[in-house]
Amino acid sequence: MRLTAVAALVKHPTGLCLGDADKHLTWRVRGDFQHLRAVTQNRVCVVGRKTFEILPDTFKVRTSLSPDFLVLSRSILGYIHKGSVIQARTQAHALGVLRSGRFGKAKDVIVLGGAQVYREWWPICSRAIITLIHKCPTDITSAVHWMDEGNVDLAPGMFLVNEQKIAAQDGDTSTATILTFERHPGFHVKAQALGA
Ligand SMILES: NC(=O)c1ccc[n+]([C@@H]2O[C@H](COP(=O)([O-])OP(=O)(O)OC[C@H]3O[C@@H](n4cnc5c(N)ncnc54)[C@H](OP(=O)(O)O)[C@@H]3O)[C@@H](O)[C@H]2O)c1
Repeated sequence: MRLTAVAALVKHPTGLCLGDADKHLTWRVRGDFQHLRAVTQNRVCVVGRKTFEILPDTFKVRTSLSPDFLVLSRSILGYIHKGSVIQARTQAHALGVLRSGRFGKAKDVIVLGGAQVYREWWPICSRAIITLIHKCPTDITSAVHWMDEGNVDLAPGMFLVNEQKIAAQDGDTSTATILTFERHPGFHVKAQALGA
C-alpha cells in the first residue's frame, strides 16, 4: 500500500498554510481543483471529519470513478458502512481497514487532510503531491498551518521529483505549481515496521 499526501499550500507570513479556518475557499485555482479530481479518482481518500464535512458535494457524488472515503473521527457520526464511506476511530483502525480489502482500491491511498491528519500521517506517507499557490490572499485571518506555525518546509524528509506549473484560468486568484516529492530510501525501514 502506498500512501500519498495531497495538499495545497500557500506561503503566509506565519508559515506555510492550508487555508483559513473561517473560510471554506481561501483561494480559487481551477487547474488545482481539476488536478485534485484526477489524483483522487478511483482512489481511497483518508480524511479528517472536519475536512470531510466541508468537501464540496460535487466531490462526494458517486460516479464510477469517484473516490471512496475513510473518515477519521473519534465521535459517533454514523459514517460507518455508508456506501463508499467508512469511519475509523484511530490511525491503527484506519490502517487495518485499508489493509483488510474492504476497499477494493486500497493499494494507492490518498491522505487528503486536514491539518491534524497530515501531521499524524506524514511519517508514513512515502509520496506527497503539493500544490504551491503562488499568491497569498491578503485576507487570511485564521491561518491553518501545514505541520506547525512558522514551518516553511514544504515536504519534510522528502525530495522533489517533479514540478508542473498551473496557469491561471478566468476568475482564478493565483497561478500555482504542482510539486511531487518522494521519501528518501531510509524511510522504508520505518514503513515496513508499520506494515504500510
Ligand atoms: N489546502 C489543503 O490542501 C487542505 C486540505 C484539507 C483540509 N484543509 C483545511 O484544513 C482545515 C481542517 O483541518 P483540521 O486539522 O481542523 O481538521 P481535520 O484534520 O480535517 O479533522 C480533524 C478531525 O478528524 C478526526 N481525527 C483526527 N485525527 C484522528 C485520529 N487519529 N483518530 C480519529 N479521529 C481523528 C477528529 O474528528 P472528531 O472531532 O469527529 O473526533 C478531529 O476533530 C480546514 O480549514 C480545511 O479547509 C486544507
